[in-house]
Amino acid sequence: MELKDKYLKILKSNQRMAKGFGYTVPSSFVYPHQWLWDSCFHSIIYARLDDYDWAKDEVRALLAGQWGNGMIPHIIYRADLDRQQVDWGTEKKTSSITQPPMVAYAVEFIYQRTQDKQFVQEVFEKLDKYYQWLDKERSDDYILSIIHPWESGQDNFVPWDSVYGVKNPSNKELNKIKLDILKKYIESGLDSRKFMNKNVFNVKCLLFNSVYLRNLSSMLNLAKIIGSDKTEYYQQLIGKVKKSFKKHLYNREKNLYTSFSEGQSLSKDFEVSSIFLPLFAGVLTEAEAKELVNDYLTKQDEFWPKYPVPTVSANDQYFRPDEFWRGSVCININWFIYRGLKKYNLNVAAQSLRDKSFELVEKSGFCEYFNPINGKGYGPSDFCWSGLIFDME
Ligand code: GLC
Repeated sequence: MELKDKYLKILKSNQRMAKGFGYTVPSSFVYPHQWLWDSCFHSIIYARLDDYDWAKDEVRALLAGQWGNGMIPHIIYRADLDRQQVDWGTEKKTSSITQPPMVAYAVEFIYQRTQDKQFVQEVFEKLDKYYQWLDKERSDDYILSIIHPWESGQDNFVPWDSVYGVKNPSNKELNKIKLDILKKYIESGLDSRKFMNKNVFNVKCLLFNSVYLRNLSSMLNLAKIIGSDKTEYYQQLIGKVKKSFKKHLYNREKNLYTSFSEGQSLSKDFEVSSIFLPLFAGVLTEAEAKELVNDYLTKQDEFWPKYPVPTVSANDQYFRPDEFWRGSVCININWFIYRGLKKYNLNVAAQSLRDKSFELVEKSGFCEYFNPINGKGYGPSDFCWSGLIFDME
């Protein structure tokens, strides 16, 4: 069977209906609910495969879970699927935290392919409320904080270890730490500002902020498309966020952007794949982009083993090729990097990353994560965001 047909079969079996809207679960058994950034990726993939109805519905279903204050929760549970195992400190059938804010990009992507202004009109106010919530609740000098590792989308990411004060933790330890942080967040009344001040987990995550900045450009474009009076707001905000990037997310000693917490860079003695996210955000000069790619990305012993791009550099002490967010490959990260490379016209590296990502999925299926050395796939093999390879051409 052709790779695309195989994928369409997976998509179809992961489609669900809620409140009259279709949405897609990341994986039918392991992730049987709706997740924020997964749905944005699904939406992009649907649009890429010309299924615009599903692409739009995925966004509609996501926005149906939006809280009154504007937050879009990272998980939406459905009444008919009551497998909520975690106490989120809310009566709502959702989690109480968010995830990388990719939704404006997804809507702009749909618009670019459909020219459907009415759809933009339909969702704009809700999107605006979400991005304003992020700015109001989470920003400190225009850079956003995440208050839980799950908000980064990179749950077990190595840079977060130093925030917890642990080295080489086991999965069991990590799970306990994540639940403890959530408990403390609930104890502070789900008040992000209050919780940020406690510095339990207050991280200026490079991926989250790169996604935010790129999505603010989408908001600006969407505002222009519908002639909204928010154009000025987004224009100004983009300028301010861009300026703050260098101030708060740049590690001068390493000459790299990294995540920070309490003014400290979170990757002092190792490198992770999010150093390439500034390509997606568009904050680098052409010379800086080229340098980053030559000095780190395409180095065989660092981020370019047989199957790039490992989430932790292959020559670092913390590199674990078979662990989730601790050295394995995730297709969504490859997609971000691919899109960033295209933005800077670094087409040779982009094409090669595209080819190697296809090779990986052809070899091991639509898995959740992969071993960068031997290509072995891990996690569920009906994992939908791995279909982002179809938007890598
Ligand atoms: C895991 C991932 C997260 C994703 C979720 C659903 O928790 O770390 O990024 O959104 O699974 O696929």
